[in-house]
Amino acid sequence: MFPHLILSFFFFFVLPGLLFFFLGHSSTGSKKKETGSASNISQPKVYPFIGSYLAVKSLGNRRIQWLSDVLKNSPSATFTLHSPLGRRNIFTGNPATVEYILKTRFSNYGKGITTTTILSDFLGTGIFNADGDKWKFQRQVASQEFNTKSLRKFVEQVVDAELSNRLLPILASAAAKQDQTLDFQDILQRFAFDNICKISFGFDPEYLTPSVERSRFARAFEEATEISSNRFREPLWLVWKLKRVLNIGSEKRLRMAVREVREFAKNIVREKKRELKEKESLESVDMLSRFLSSGHSNEDFVTDIVISFILAGKDTTSAALTWFFWLLSKNPRVEKEIVNEIMEKSEVPVYDEVKNMIYTHAALCESMRLYPPVPTDVKEAMGDDVLPDGTVVKKGMLVTYHVYAMGRLESIWGEDWAEFKPERWLEKVESGKWRFMGRDSFTYPVFQAGPRICLGKEMAFMQMKRMVAGVLRRFTVVPAVAQEVEPHYFSFLTSLMEGGFPVKIVQRVPSN
Ligand code: HEM
Repeated sequence: MFPHLILSFFFFFVLPGLLFFFLGHSSTGSKKKETGSASNISQPKVYPFIGSYLAVKSLGNRRIQWLSDVLKNSPSATFTLHSPLGRRNIFTGNPATVEYILKTRFSNYGKGITTTTILSDFLGTGIFNADGDKWKFQRQVASQEFNTKSLRKFVEQVVDAELSNRLLPILASAAAKQDQTLDFQDILQRFAFDNICKISFGFDPEYLTPSVERSRFARAFEEATEISSNRFREPLWLVWKLKRVLNIGSEKRLRMAVREVREFAKNIVREKKRELKEKESLESVDMLSRFLSSGHSNEDFVTDIVISFILAGKDTTSAALTWFFWLLSKNPRVEKEIVNEIMEKSEVPVYDEVKNMIYTHAALCESMRLYPPVPTDVKEAMGDDVLPDGTVVKKGMLVTYHVYAMGRLESIWGEDWAEFKPERWLEKVESGKWRFMGRDSFTYPVFQAGPRICLGKEMAFMQMKRMVAGVLRRFTVVPAVAQEVEPHYFSFLTSLMEGGFPVKIVQRVPSN
């Protein structure tokens, strides 16, 4: 009890006082600024003790755009942000540096203690939050889930079922009601959540079914994701750590949400283990069954793995598709090309047909270049180092590659970087067909790169292309917001369209 009182006193009286002195005081008169064009943005002022906290604080949720503008104006697209208490974070948009940290010196740049501490309440030691042997083992077993046979099954069973039994009927009903507005971002998130739960542990949360009340598991998962990612934004980490010790506010809600998620997942683990005992082998081929069948039955361990996978697949494809449909609505020429490609395939396209949707593939790459589902990704230096451009790194420093900024660099994409142009990923071959021209993963690290490159990349593309084919064959997705206003892009671990994506669904006229 006594230490709690001291902590409460510090938390409620001393800390606000200090913050008022350093922040409230010096920010007097400073107006909340919008980031302007990249040419106006220079490196922020650094003050003793608080570093560039004031500049960052005044940005609100425009931090990604601001950092991107600063990087555009920094030599070698790299700069060091001074955080409170002398902490330094390096940001880079330089492909050579990205290759250096993600591949050349892979062993020196891991998740590190900072990230793992922030995420461990939620993710434990799951693949997303592990380094070294713990990571290697999970990567090796999980890789088997992403072979062609599993991918085919995923597309032709899981995605097809979710599409034809749930998503398409919802859209058909909205189209019939003409004046109905849907939040397409929310729909896409629910669609992705159902799919990834089926793949990860063979459980269908029925999140997209309109009659089912939002599943408690899904809601708890959302809350745990949001609060965990907010810990990264806390300029003084002492604040969330104190709230955690005192079990108050967001930390109390996090504890409850995590308990709900883990208990739920553990029940499924127990059920599968019982099934395995009775049948000696599991019929299902979800990730959990694979881990259990290979003899790894520690409940906490497999629960951690399942939670990491759900997180990986939950909001990434939905973020990609939200911006993709918005970009299509502004680029009817591209939409027409995609629809032509879809109409060449069967009504229910099989795996190989989906794989061969080259133009759609290019359009998705292009959309994720401008609006990456994971806007930034942070690593921690395990030892002192010097980056290829001469930036000095000290042990424990955070080094972040800024995917959003990299998709907007003229030095990489040329003067027309702001244009949505799938053709920059394509070349026409003699037969008149398109051939896909990929970029190296260090220049386009949307799925990360090097030994930890996203395991679900192929699966994500198959899911997105199958979904796009199913939707655009029948419907047009029309934004119910002013076309000239660009929605705001921000992120909690993964990117989001602020305020959702309100749309109307219109039945497609065949000749369209
Ligand atoms: C458009 C969709 C997706 C994008 C843009 C994406 C992007 C990424 C990125 C940037 C990372 C690195 C994260 C980090 O280490 O901090 C990552 C890792 C990972 N992704 Fe994805 N992802 C997508 C979809 C998926 C899906 C659908 C799955 C699963 C079915 C998946 C499974 C994973 C796994 C397991 C890792 C961890 C790999 C490791 O640490 O070895 N991803 N992804």
